[in-house]
Amino acid sequence: MTDLSTEYLGLKLDNPLVPSSSPLTGELDTARKLEDAGAAALVLPSLFEQTIEHEQQELECFVHSQALGHYEAQSYQPVPEDYSSELDNHLERIQQFKSALSIPVIASLNGISANGWIDTGKELQQAGADALELNVYYIAADPDTSAAEVENRYLKLLTDLRQHVTIPVTMKLSSQFSSVANMVFKLQQAGAHGVSLFNRFYQPDIDLETLHIKPHLELSSSMESLVRIRWIALIRGRVDLSIAATGGFHRTEDIIKALLAGADVTHLCSVLLQNGPEYIAVLKQELHDWLEQQEYTSVTQMKGSVSRSCAINPAALEHCNYMHVIRSYGQ
Ligand SMILES: Cc1cc2nc3c(=O)[nH]c(=O)nc-3n(C[C@H](O)[C@H](O)[C@H](O)COP(=O)(O)O)c2cc1C
Repeated sequence: MTDLSTEYLGLKLDNPLVPSSSPLTGELDTARKLEDAGAAALVLPSLFEQTIEHEQQELECFVHSQALGHYEAQSYQPVPEDYSSELDNHLERIQQFKSALSIPVIASLNGISANGWIDTGKELQQAGADALELNVYYIAADPDTSAAEVENRYLKLLTDLRQHVTIPVTMKLSSQFSSVANMVFKLQQAGAHGVSLFNRFYQPDIDLETLHIKPHLELSSSMESLVRIRWIALIRGRVDLSIAATGGFHRTEDIIKALLAGADVTHLCSVLLQNGPEYIAVLKQELHDWLEQQEYTSVTQMKGSVSRSCAINPAALEHCNYMHVIRSYGQ
């Protein structure tokens, strides 16, 4: 019997297929379908720093203006009892998911400043989240901001969050660091239990009619998985934390390559938005069949066997083949 189980962030998972943060993981109905199809865990849609801060400001403003108008009314309750913020709804959703599903539920926080909103992590933990993913979607657009400053923001955010929670914390990173491997190592030293490589940055487009910048969301393609696979192969065995491959995992062969490179799990988003939550069952079956054909007894056995530390030709993962690749064009 082929064993698909894997360990991720200290959680024992049935298999390495984990739907990542998206609208699909935010509704209980689809979450149930994902679980039924074989998802081993899921990452909830992110709770955004801006939303939390905005709600806090609005609430303070509301309380303040009511207090001015009803200063002498001692029994006055400025906040309606049925008021529920997005944070409240999010916490409720975690509780609901935890009682309805048997797979681990990973909460996701999105933000970059360390303004105190990060203690929200404690509430997510109390609501029952099994782990926390910190999605730092930050575009370093200011020429005055150095790479070291950007990296320190990530590290500070992680350190602050770790002070509030005891559940595992993983960082979802973009590939845009001068030294990805070093950044992952520093995050590990700062207490990260894992990294998700890599976040996709959405590229705004220019509307040629209006000359406005318009937001543009395009789902990923399989080709995008290669940069993830390469970096995972480069760092597996040289850092000691969990690794999730995220971005461009559409086909079973992409998933197999990520596992061979050393990923503990592969996150799935675009492929499930395109094919529906049930598609996980197809990927799981194909993964199982491939392992069996190749005579692997388990995912653990294959994991990392083509990482830099184990590859037959590790130099091919680095720069050595650059000249040959360029010269091979058109041959
Ligand atoms: C519609 C949509 C919503 C998303 N929402 C979030 C989110 O709330 N938080 C987050 O960390 N990533 C979010 N993502 C990113 C995905 O989790 C994933 O990392 C990215 O799409 C790359 O994976 P893929 O190639 O499988 O789509 C979203 C992606 C899409 C397409």
